[in-house]
Amino acid sequence: MINQHYLDMLGHKSVIRELSEYATARGKEIGYENVFDYSLGNPSVPTPEDFTAAAKNLLDTMDPVQLHGYSPSLGLPDVKEKLAASLARRFSIPYTPELIFPTSGCAGAIAHALRAVTEPGQDVLVFAPFFPEYGPYIGETGARMRIVPAKYPDFQINFDALEEMLNENTAAVLINSPNNPSGVVYSEETLTRLAELLSAKSKAFGHHIFLISDEPYREIAFDHKTVPYPASFYQDTLTCYSFSKSLSVPGERIGYVAVNPGCEGADVLVPMLGQISRGIGHNCPSSLIQRAVAEVADETSDLSVYETNRNLLYDTFVELGFTVPRPGGTFYLIPKALEESAEAFCKKAMKYDLIFVPCEGFHAPGYFRVAYCIATEKVKRSLPVIREFVEKEYPNR
Ligand SMILES: Cc1ncc(COP(=O)(O)O)c(C=O)c1O
Repeated sequence: MINQHYLDMLGHKSVIRELSEYATARGKEIGYENVFDYSLGNPSVPTPEDFTAAAKNLLDTMDPVQLHGYSPSLGLPDVKEKLAASLARRFSIPYTPELIFPTSGCAGAIAHALRAVTEPGQDVLVFAPFFPEYGPYIGETGARMRIVPAKYPDFQINFDALEEMLNENTAAVLINSPNNPSGVVYSEETLTRLAELLSAKSKAFGHHIFLISDEPYREIAFDHKTVPYPASFYQDTLTCYSFSKSLSVPGERIGYVAVNPGCEGADVLVPMLGQISRGIGHNCPSSLIQRAVAEVADETSDLSVYETNRNLLYDTFVELGFTVPRPGGTFYLIPKALEESAEAFCKKAMKYDLIFVPCEGFHAPGYFRVAYCIATEKVKRSLPVIREFVEKEYPNR
């Protein structure tokens, strides 16, 4: 008999995928250059030449039997060494190779981290708005996802709601800064307050509440700022990282879990993650790609285009009268729609070949996401179209 649960999941199609498919089909009719497709979060800049050179060099110079052989189940030791050294240097936390676990992107990192620090039936708290895949990531572990409502208008943490929702059943809290979809970066003040609250509640409930920090956008920071690193604020942190966006290699599926050396169970968590891989059959990312990213661990693609695009779009939306939190990073922003239903708003935008994503699925109803990982030239061409759409459809806004 086929499994009913997964069969039922087929009924929940991703709105983002549907919109992106529409944009592709529309592009076939009118030319894709005329469709302003702000739907997908796919990096639009090439990977650094050094990454390509590192991969080529490995292929050219390493013994193929060794290069393409199985990676140990906890990752390649020299790769873990390089990643730990890079993190230790950058964030002044004494990471060692034993605390690093290479994974298939952030998705793999989160799936492993969640299983390591929850029991089925326990709660994992997430903060609206959030990446819709958190639903299945958490649901499939048997833990229960509970949503802390958003704090408007700055999209920092709603501490009143969080405090009320933390209880004996809370195993972990999952954060994402810089945030998909809002682009908002948690301030040092927010992270300090979060750490204080989690420490106090851990003490009160007699167990450590873990922080799982989802950080695929860590390197995409604007205004000459660096993103505050959550593990520097709270010891019981599992950092989930991905090179998908920083090196523009989402298809290579590479990331890691970094266990804070001060975390409860720091000595056993990475070996446990190896055991989790056995259960979910999702073990050891490609050994070639592990080695290639380790060679360029401190590099990124040229990410400056995202800030240029942020400036153009943010200024335009503000000028047109939208309420919009100012993104401190990522390649997303979420203006508030000019009518109650963001879905209706986005449908009207489609008449102008503007493809925006309504944020109901991100638990920010009434907002819409603009993924500006597209060429700046196209962003510029879209601005008069956005203006025309707003002025014609919402003359009395
Ligand atoms: C917030 C967030 N978390 C996790 C992921 C998954 O990252 P990866 O593609 O590296 O698995 C994404 C991907 O877009 C994301 O936006």
